[in-house]
Amino acid sequence: VKRRVGPLAAGDLVQFTDVKGRRYQATLREGAQFHTQSGFVEHSDVIGVSDGTTVQSSRGQRFVVLRPPLADFVFKMPRGAQVIYPKDLGPIMVLADIGPGDRVLESGVGSGALSMMLLRAGADVVGYEIRDDFAERAVANVHRFLGDAVEDRYRIEIRNTYDGIDERELDRVVLDLPEPWTVVPHATESLRPGGIIVAYTPSVTQVVAFREAVAGGPYTGLETIEVLHRSWHVEPPSVRPDHRMVAHTGFLTVARRLADET
Ligand SMILES: C[S@@+](CC[C@H](N)C(=O)[O-])C[C@H]1O[C@@H](n2cnc3c(N)ncnc32)[C@H](O)[C@@H]1O
Repeated sequence: VKRRVGPLAAGDLVQFTDVKGRRYQATLREGAQFHTQSGFVEHSDVIGVSDGTTVQSSRGQRFVVLRPPLADFVFKMPRGAQVIYPKDLGPIMVLADIGPGDRVLESGVGSGALSMMLLRAGADVVGYEIRDDFAERAVANVHRFLGDAVEDRYRIEIRNTYDGIDERELDRVVLDLPEPWTVVPHATESLRPGGIIVAYTPSVTQVVAFREAVAGGPYTGLETIEVLHRSWHVEPPSVRPDHRMVAHTGFLTVARRLADET
């Protein structure tokens, strides 16, 4: 997916950030307005300016306008299911070692946050999702952020992943559903030798059950990590960790499929 650069254009997703750091997103359309409590900004005043321009609302409030990064879009996009936080999205991409052309089975799809990461890295993604309303929303979110260019690399099937996986010779299987251990035997059928399986699970009892299933199969490199993200307040002379942090999201467990013994 080629990143949009150059002057902001109609159809671009942009983010308005006010002086207090509050962020608002909108897709630019001729004739439309971006409304806040501190007045409005005509989209036509934004169309044609460069990324990072400061504009003023009808009541004199200043906003910086930028195309938002994926991590900001994930927090603003319509969500049904819980999304994977950006702090975990990055490590999942590294643990699963996602690259262009990788054939990836993702399940469940939820709101599509992980789909976006996978697609933007160039993977071919088949998503299994049990709820059609979530699948629809994921497709809408993915298209809003990445455009239609990813259409031929993204397919969602409405189905129960616990019943099996039809794909074969997959490079990666990435799981974010309640019982990933149920999927391990199917993943073993579907992953090529050398393929990677990753599970994101909020609870450590899920980690244990998933690891037991993996340990009973042809896998190596079984590893579980937790990613802690602590932001800092940096306003000298006060330089210290922020008082609040997200204490827990989930655990990431990875393993690599071995060849079948002959
Ligand atoms: C936490 S959400 C996934 C969020 C997603 N990773 C994201 O980044 O937006 C879990 C999803 O798994 C789906 N799901 C649960 N059980 C499933 C199953 N057996 N087969 C397929 N999808 C399932 C749920 O409907 C839900 O959308």
